[in-house]
Amino acid sequence: MTKEKIIELLNHALELEHGAYVQYLSHAEIVEGINAEPIIARLKEIADDEKKHQDEFRTLIGALGGVPSMKIAETHPAKSIEEILEVNLKDEKVAVDTYRKILDALKQEKGPGYYDHLLEHEVRHILMEEQEHITELELLQGTQGSSY
Ligand SMILES: [Fe+2]
Ligand SMILES: [Fe+2]
Repeated sequence: MTKEKIIELLNHALELEHGAYVQYLSHAEIVEGINAEPIIARLKEIADDEKKHQDEFRTLIGALGGVPSMKIAETHPAKSIEEILEVNLKDEKVAVDTYRKILDALKQEKGPGYYDHLLEHEVRHILMEEQEHITELELLQGTQGSSY
């Protein structure tokens, strides 16, 4: 795999992070009801993580000699807490799948192609944080179910 291909994959990841960031912040503003406060706080905390991920992907892309994308992946509106949790869970799973594919592609390149241990480590770390987001959103879903 060429550096250009890796840069392309990382830029796709960066665009997902742009989308996730604005989506969590937008959703945080429309949460209402009895359990709103802790959910708003949590959505904003996750948005902070996505912002960090953007910075990390930008740094990786720059280090490879690429130009970080300014595009944003498709975002998904939601109208209720249930919908917000559902939509973001789906998008987190897309991110996990995408980052896992990047890791697989990097691993296959341990031979002759371009390979960077730090790059693999960073992508793996971001992947783990997305998995934590999935767990947190699932926990919030549980809270919703039990409060009525
Ligand atoms: Fe992220
Ligand atoms: Fe996430």
